[in-house]
Amino acid sequence: MMKLDKLCVGYYSPTRTSRTIAHAIAEGMNIARREDLDLTTDNGIGPILVKDSICIISVPVYGGLIAPIAAQRLRRLQATNCVAIPVVVYGNRDYEDALVQLRDLLIEQGFTILCGATFIGEHSYSRSEMPIAEGRPDKIDIQIAKDFGRKALIRLQEQLHIGNITDTYDKDFALMYEQPLNSLITSPKIKGNIPYKTLRPSTPQAPLVNENCYGCGECLDWCPTGAITLTDGRSITQIELCTKCCACVKFCPVGGRTFDTPYTAMLHEKCKERREAELFI
Ligand SMILES: Cc1cc2nc3c(=O)[nH]c(=O)nc-3n(C[C@H](O)[C@H](O)[C@H](O)COP(=O)(O)O)c2cc1C
Ligand code: SF4
Ligand code: SF4
Repeated sequence: MMKLDKLCVGYYSPTRTSRTIAHAIAEGMNIARREDLDLTTDNGIGPILVKDSICIISVPVYGGLIAPIAAQRLRRLQATNCVAIPVVVYGNRDYEDALVQLRDLLIEQGFTILCGATFIGEHSYSRSEMPIAEGRPDKIDIQIAKDFGRKALIRLQEQLHIGNITDTYDKDFALMYEQPLNSLITSPKIKGNIPYKTLRPSTPQAPLVNENCYGCGECLDWCPTGAITLTDGRSITQIELCTKCCACVKFCPVGGRTFDTPYTAMLHEKCKERREAELFI
């Protein structure tokens, strides 16, 4: 007999929208044994073993693909008897090939794909004077994510030919079955191209530090790549390590950092129409 008896909520999420969505999906599943796997600032290199788990894996879209550092970190996962729910979160422009790319990466790491979804998060480049998907995920997105979690669990139960799920919040919750997961589960079709799009190399750029910075060091803890250091009471950035994620810009308590790019105005103009979550289930 094999079993799935816990929930793993995995994410890479510099500005925390992918994390918020992953948590809302997890809430909809309401499984007692649950652990977070936050890969955002985890730059370790050793394998991360995951076993007998239902895994929600949520990452942001950068340039129509998954954020490169997210891909790099997810390659540490080694799954044994796990289903995965790949989720990509994007800033209301488009997700292009990101979800198929994430699905394929998770298959390579040993997961069986249960279903997938795309959600909208406030764009990393959004500013109060030029908002892009500001405040998302909002209440509507969170409700959709919770419902998706519930539906995903029902789909899993159906695919494993298990009758009514008893109390998922019971600490002894387990879905039991007798064959390998990939012989029981049929993955739904997911939108995106293979081969994936190719990215043009982007010009290195990093946020600028202004006179508001008083060297508190908070942005150092948010930076996923360790690109920030403190010198003479001010934060400075190693441009070659910067991923342009804008976590330091969003989380500096005094507006000490700005990331100025022409994309902000362009996306603010062109991506006004609200996009909605897409569920592949
Ligand atoms: C370098 C970079 C590239 C991005 N590319 C896209 C994109 O192609 N499409 C899109 O809609 N949003 C794009 N975004 C916005 C993010 O996908 C969006 O803000 C997401 O919610 C960030 O996730 P996080 O909060 O988990 O960091 C990009 C953001 C950055 C920093
Ligand atoms: S930029 Fe902001 S968060 Fe970073 S050290 Fe300066 S004041 Fe602190
Ligand atoms: S320095 Fe660059 S990589 Fe680090 S948090 Fe700021 S934008 Fe992100």
